[in-house]
Amino acid sequence: MSGFENLLAEEISNLGGSQIEMLNRAVSFEGDIEVLYQVNLWARTAIRVIQPILEFKAHNETVLYKRLRRYDWTNLIPLDKTFKINSNVHSEVFTHSKYVALKTKDAIVDTFREKYNGERPNIELENPDFLLDVHCNKVDFVISIDSSGESLHKRGYRQKERRAPLNETLAAGMIMLSGWDKKMPLLDPMCGSGTILIEALLIARNIPPRFNRTHFAFMNWPEYNDELWRTIKLKSLATVKEGPVPLLFGFDIDPDEYAQTKKLLKSLDMDTYIDLHKIDFFSHECISESGFIITNPPYGLRIEQDDINDFYKNIGDTFKKHYQGWTAWVLSGNKEALKFLGLRTSKKMTLYNGAIECKYHRYDLYRGSKKQP
Ligand SMILES: C[S@@+](CC[C@H](N)C(=O)[O-])C[C@H]1O[C@@H](n2cnc3c(N)ncnc32)[C@H](O)[C@@H]1O
Repeated sequence: MSGFENLLAEEISNLGGSQIEMLNRAVSFEGDIEVLYQVNLWARTAIRVIQPILEFKAHNETVLYKRLRRYDWTNLIPLDKTFKINSNVHSEVFTHSKYVALKTKDAIVDTFREKYNGERPNIELENPDFLLDVHCNKVDFVISIDSSGESLHKRGYRQKERRAPLNETLAAGMIMLSGWDKKMPLLDPMCGSGTILIEALLIARNIPPRFNRTHFAFMNWPEYNDELWRTIKLKSLATVKEGPVPLLFGFDIDPDEYAQTKKLLKSLDMDTYIDLHKIDFFSHECISESGFIITNPPYGLRIEQDDINDFYKNIGDTFKKHYQGWTAWVLSGNKEALKFLGLRTSKKMTLYNGAIECKYHRYDLYRGSKKQP
């Protein structure tokens, strides 16, 4: 994810990856199958882990097909499994990513047909057993196999989709970038489905973010080592921090959001660690001398700009009035409204919430004499 390359590189290094290199919105690394399992289980800021299997140059579609036919796909995909191809093309020669995916599919299917008297594995678009990734930059091709399957932001703890929840990977990255020490109180005053608070609890207690997830694409690979996977999961339990956890609390004004989040926290046995309140942030005084606020207020996409500007002004006023001594981080896709907080920004970052370019700003809410401009 854009903006998290440094964090991810550090995570991968801690998980045993080597030859780590930061790329644009990606990190490349080397490691054995254990590292691959570890990164899928643990890396909080990863979206998917793909393993390159083939690299070549092709200046036209005939060469592309020939190069793909040189690989024995029958060793990779069992005949009775399904597959899907995703393609990503930045090239003047190959201008249609779907066409590149089609050519790749033809080469794979023809390899099977030749070996198995016309039989071949089927394409499955929804839940394929094998997901292949074709990346083309000019005439350079990299074909990879996706070890994650569904995006790794799907941790396995959310039972049903909710209205506009924050992407879990984004929430984890926001916390990791914030400088929160895992000890100070952490408040999300507009917490919605509680993503920031849940990810903060997982970070504070050192729980693998995908401990509850039951499926990863690597489980379909012929060489999948179930014993190794189980051992890794079991070992991860030993690293969970017991004992006191920091004060984690959230507000939401919406009774439905509050009720659903409360239910979710209960089902995850997290309700004793995360304190949830159905209240209006603007009419509530803080309960601690200092702490961290990390939040993602509404962007006001469906309301008048004047109203959303007032709403952000209200956030800024509440920070100044009730949260002196705290550090606040606000993520917003509404740059104009963000200015109405009326606070001096001490750090600025650009992050993406899906396709929405967002600003992630830090505000140090000094006490007393240091006036907020
Ligand atoms: C963009 S959503 C937050 C999404 C959240 N980060 C998540 O992961 O689900 C903004 C939330 O702010 C809440 N909200 C709006 N005004 C509020 C207020 N005055 N006090 C508390 N919550 C408020 C809304 O009900 C909504 O749930």
